[in-house]
Amino acid sequence: EFHLHPKELKLASDGAFGKYDNRQLQRGLQVYKEVCSACHSLRLVSFRDLEGIGYNEAQVKNFAASIDTIPSINPDTGEASTRKGIPSDRFPSPFANDVAARAANNNAIPPDLSLMTKARHDGSAYVYSLLTGFQNQPAKLLKEFPDSKTPPGLHYNPYFANLNLAMAPPLTSEGQVAYLDGTRPTVDQMAKDVSAFLTWTAEPKLQARRQTGFAVIGFLLVFCVLAWGAYQNVWRNVK
Ligand code: HEM
Repeated sequence: EFHLHPKELKLASDGAFGKYDNRQLQRGLQVYKEVCSACHSLRLVSFRDLEGIGYNEAQVKNFAASIDTIPSINPDTGEASTRKGIPSDRFPSPFANDVAARAANNNAIPPDLSLMTKARHDGSAYVYSLLTGFQNQPAKLLKEFPDSKTPPGLHYNPYFANLNLAMAPPLTSEGQVAYLDGTRPTVDQMAKDVSAFLTWTAEPKLQARRQTGFAVIGFLLVFCVLAWGAYQNVWRNVK
């Protein structure tokens, strides 16, 4: 009763003929980089994959180099250190390991977001709803189940299955991200854009998959007609 189904989210990539809106994906990348990446990795996405949302090789190189937290080993001392990214690196986790991640997040590990929109039911809409769904606990809930009061350090969100999660609302004020394309960065817009971006990370080949699908169905339709014609022909003299 208190756990809600995701709100509706309309994306350009919806439907059989949908195509990704690269400008939106680029804005979403900006939100991910400036906000979410403080806690979440995208370990299945490498920087060079960003060519898929409209960047060229030089831009990818610059982007990779702007991330200087790639875990590495100092060749002189053998100690753990970090270096600048190159296009073949993946989006790193900001935490050295799960223990460090838990220590910084009230004992919860921020999950990798690469496949989040596939991992949850109605995933794209879920991410959008989760980001815009933080609120006070309803009085009715507290009245019916006084023990369900959100513990300190957790945050009430009716879109999260447990209702209380260890992530504080990451998007809280307009203009948290300064969009390069002039779009007004409302909380709602940033939430939509990052959900669109995470839809892409989970399925970068969506458009190619659908195109292949149409070609296959087209071929099969033609083949059906031929098979039917051949059948009529072969059995022509048989009563
Ligand atoms: C969990 C998205 C920013 C910390 C999650 C989940 C999603 C998500 C989809 C998973 C919920 C589930 O399991 O169903 C995002 C997005 C962000 C963002 C899109 C940026 C807009 C942050 C930041 C932090 C953070 C900045 C840390 C300060 C966490 C933690 C969890 C979590 C600790 C685990 C919560 C739990 O299991 O109780 N986030 N997040 N997130 N996030 Fe974020």
